[in-house]
Amino acid sequence: MSSKPLVSIIMGSASDWDTMRACSETLDKFGIPHETNVASAHRAPDKVAQIASQAGARGIKVFIAAAGGAAHLAGTVAARSSLPVIGVPMKGWATDGLDSLLSTVQMPRGIPVLTVAIGKAGAVNAAIAALQILALSDEQYAGILEKFRQDQTRQASNTELEK
Ligand code: RP5
Repeated sequence: MSSKPLVSIIMGSASDWDTMRACSETLDKFGIPHETNVASAHRAPDKVAQIASQAGARGIKVFIAAAGGAAHLAGTVAARSSLPVIGVPMKGWATDGLDSLLSTVQMPRGIPVLTVAIGKAGAVNAAIAALQILALSDEQYAGILEKFRQDQTRQASNTELEK
Protein backbone atom coordinates (compact mmCIF):
# COMPACT_ATOMS: atom_id res chain seq x y z
CA MET A 1 0.00 0.00 0.00
CA SER A 2 1.17 3.51 -0.79
CA SER A 3 2.35 5.89 1.95
CA LYS A 4 1.66 8.94 -0.24
CA PRO A 5 -1.78 10.46 0.40
CA LEU A 6 -4.53 8.82 -1.65
CA VAL A 7 -7.38 10.87 -0.19
CA SER A 8 -7.47 14.62 0.18
CA ILE A 9 -9.78 16.04 2.86
CA ILE A 10 -10.51 19.70 2.24
CA MET A 11 -12.52 21.85 4.65
CA GLY A 12 -13.93 25.33 4.31
CA SER A 13 -12.86 26.27 7.83
CA ALA A 14 -10.83 24.96 10.75
CA SER A 15 -14.17 24.92 12.59
CA ASP A 16 -15.19 21.96 10.38
CA TRP A 17 -12.43 19.84 11.94
CA ASP A 18 -14.59 19.05 15.00
CA THR A 19 -16.76 17.02 12.62
CA MET A 20 -14.16 15.96 10.07
CA ARG A 21 -11.83 14.49 12.66
CA ALA A 22 -14.16 11.47 12.55
CA CYS A 23 -13.47 11.16 8.82
CA SER A 24 -9.71 11.31 9.30
CA GLU A 25 -9.84 8.79 12.16
CA THR A 26 -11.88 6.39 10.03
CA LEU A 27 -9.39 6.67 7.16
CA ASP A 28 -6.60 5.97 9.69
CA LYS A 29 -8.48 2.90 10.89
CA PHE A 30 -8.55 1.62 7.29
CA GLY A 31 -4.87 2.45 6.78
CA ILE A 32 -5.63 4.98 4.05
CA PRO A 33 -2.95 7.68 3.79
CA HIS A 34 -4.57 11.08 3.52
CA GLU A 35 -3.91 14.79 3.74
CA THR A 36 -6.03 17.52 5.32
CA ASN A 37 -6.29 21.08 4.08
CA VAL A 38 -8.33 24.08 5.17
CA ALA A 39 -9.23 26.15 2.12
CA SER A 40 -12.39 28.15 1.77
CA ALA A 41 -14.06 28.42 -1.63
CA HIS A 42 -14.94 32.07 -1.02
CA ARG A 43 -12.12 33.21 1.31
CA ALA A 44 -9.24 31.41 -0.42
CA PRO A 45 -10.45 30.50 -3.93
CA ASP A 46 -6.94 30.44 -5.44
CA LYS A 47 -5.76 27.96 -2.82
CA VAL A 48 -8.78 25.72 -3.51
CA ALA A 49 -8.09 25.89 -7.26
CA GLN A 50 -4.45 24.99 -6.74
CA ILE A 51 -5.18 22.01 -4.48
CA ALA A 52 -7.91 20.71 -6.77
CA SER A 53 -6.06 21.08 -10.04
CA GLN A 54 -2.77 19.54 -8.81
CA ALA A 55 -4.19 16.63 -6.80
CA GLY A 56 -4.32 14.04 -9.61
CA ALA A 57 -0.65 14.56 -10.45
CA ARG A 58 0.22 14.09 -6.76
CA GLY A 59 -1.44 10.67 -6.68
CA ILE A 60 -4.68 11.65 -4.94
CA LYS A 61 -7.56 9.36 -5.96
CA VAL A 62 -10.51 10.81 -4.04
CA PHE A 63 -11.48 14.18 -2.59
CA ILE A 64 -13.60 14.58 0.54
CA ALA A 65 -14.84 18.15 0.74
CA ALA A 66 -16.62 19.51 3.83
CA ALA A 67 -18.31 22.87 4.13
CA GLY A 68 -21.28 24.55 5.75
CA GLY A 69 -23.83 27.22 4.91
CA ALA A 70 -23.87 28.10 1.20
CA ALA A 71 -21.52 25.17 0.81
CA HIS A 72 -19.92 25.56 -2.60
CA LEU A 73 -16.54 24.03 -1.72
CA ALA A 74 -17.23 20.50 -2.97
CA GLY A 75 -18.65 21.82 -6.24
CA THR A 76 -15.69 24.15 -6.69
CA VAL A 77 -13.24 21.27 -6.19
CA ALA A 78 -15.26 19.10 -8.60
CA ALA A 79 -15.13 21.87 -11.18
CA ARG A 80 -11.33 21.85 -11.08
CA SER A 81 -10.65 18.12 -10.87
CA SER A 82 -11.90 14.97 -12.58
CA LEU A 83 -11.33 12.94 -9.41
CA PRO A 84 -14.42 11.75 -7.53
CA VAL A 85 -15.49 14.34 -4.95
CA ILE A 86 -17.43 13.24 -1.87
CA GLY A 87 -19.22 16.18 -0.26
CA VAL A 88 -19.90 16.31 3.48
CA PRO A 89 -22.48 18.93 4.51
CA MET A 90 -21.65 20.57 7.85
CA LYS A 91 -24.30 21.06 10.54
CA GLY A 92 -24.78 24.00 12.85
CA TRP A 93 -26.25 26.76 10.75
CA ALA A 94 -29.65 28.43 10.82
CA THR A 95 -31.28 25.43 9.18
CA ASP A 96 -29.31 22.76 11.05
CA GLY A 97 -27.31 21.78 7.99
CA LEU A 98 -30.13 21.64 5.46
CA ASP A 99 -28.59 24.66 3.73
CA SER A 100 -25.24 22.83 3.53
CA LEU A 101 -26.90 19.62 2.34
CA LEU A 102 -28.83 21.24 -0.50
CA SER A 103 -25.96 23.40 -1.68
CA THR A 104 -23.62 20.39 -1.71
CA VAL A 105 -25.95 17.83 -3.27
CA GLN A 106 -27.76 19.96 -5.84
CA MET A 107 -25.00 20.20 -8.42
CA PRO A 108 -26.21 21.04 -11.89
CA ARG A 109 -25.84 18.35 -14.56
CA GLY A 110 -22.29 17.60 -15.67
CA ILE A 111 -20.25 17.99 -12.47
CA PRO A 112 -21.31 15.51 -9.78
CA VAL A 113 -20.63 15.77 -6.07
CA LEU A 114 -21.24 12.45 -4.28
CA THR A 115 -22.99 13.73 -1.20
CA VAL A 116 -23.26 11.96 2.16
CA ALA A 117 -25.31 12.71 5.29
CA ILE A 118 -25.05 15.93 7.31
CA GLY A 119 -22.43 16.00 10.08
CA LYS A 120 -20.52 13.19 11.77
CA ALA A 121 -22.39 10.28 10.15
CA GLY A 122 -21.53 11.80 6.77
CA ALA A 123 -17.91 12.34 7.81
CA VAL A 124 -17.55 8.64 8.68
CA ASN A 125 -19.49 7.51 5.60
CA ALA A 126 -17.28 9.65 3.37
CA ALA A 127 -14.26 7.69 4.62
CA ILE A 128 -16.07 4.38 4.01
CA ALA A 129 -17.06 5.53 0.51
CA ALA A 130 -13.43 6.46 -0.20
CA LEU A 131 -12.42 2.95 0.91
CA GLN A 132 -15.04 1.50 -1.46
CA ILE A 133 -13.59 3.51 -4.37
CA LEU A 134 -10.01 2.48 -3.57
CA ALA A 135 -11.08 -1.15 -3.09
CA LEU A 136 -12.18 -1.35 -6.75
CA SER A 137 -8.55 -1.40 -7.85
CA ASP A 138 -6.68 -2.58 -4.76
CA GLU A 139 -7.03 -6.06 -3.26
CA GLN A 140 -5.73 -5.03 0.15
CA TYR A 141 -8.35 -2.31 0.47
CA ALA A 142 -10.95 -4.75 -0.83
CA GLY A 143 -10.01 -7.09 2.03
CA ILE A 144 -10.17 -4.27 4.59
CA LEU A 145 -13.62 -3.28 3.30
CA GLU A 146 -14.90 -6.85 3.46
CA LYS A 147 -13.63 -7.31 7.02
CA PHE A 148 -15.12 -3.98 8.11
CA ARG A 149 -18.51 -4.97 6.72
CA GLN A 150 -18.44 -8.39 8.37
CA ASP A 151 -17.33 -6.96 11.75
CA GLN A 152 -20.06 -4.35 11.58
CA THR A 153 -22.71 -6.96 10.80
CA ARG A 154 -21.47 -9.14 13.67
CA GLN A 155 -21.49 -6.21 16.11
CA ALA A 156 -24.95 -5.14 15.05
CA SER A 157 -26.38 -8.60 15.69
CA ASN A 158 -24.55 -9.13 19.01
CA THR A 159 -25.73 -5.96 20.68
CA GLU A 160 -27.05 -6.70 24.18
CA LEU A 161 -29.97 -4.57 25.23
CA GLU A 162 -30.03 -3.19 28.77
CA LYS A 163 -32.83 -4.58 30.93
C1 RP5 B 1 -18.00 27.49 5.74
O1 RP5 B 1 -18.52 28.32 6.71
C2 RP5 B 1 -17.11 26.53 6.49
O2 RP5 B 1 -17.01 25.33 5.79
C3 RP5 B 1 -17.77 26.38 7.82
O3 RP5 B 1 -18.60 25.23 7.85
C4 RP5 B 1 -18.62 27.61 7.93
C5 RP5 B 1 -18.26 28.50 9.09
O4 RP5 B 1 -16.93 28.91 8.98
P1 RP5 B 1 -16.24 29.75 10.14
O5 RP5 B 1 -17.02 31.03 10.24
O6 RP5 B 1 -16.35 28.90 11.39
O7 RP5 B 1 -14.82 29.93 9.72
O8 RP5 B 1 -17.28 28.18 4.80
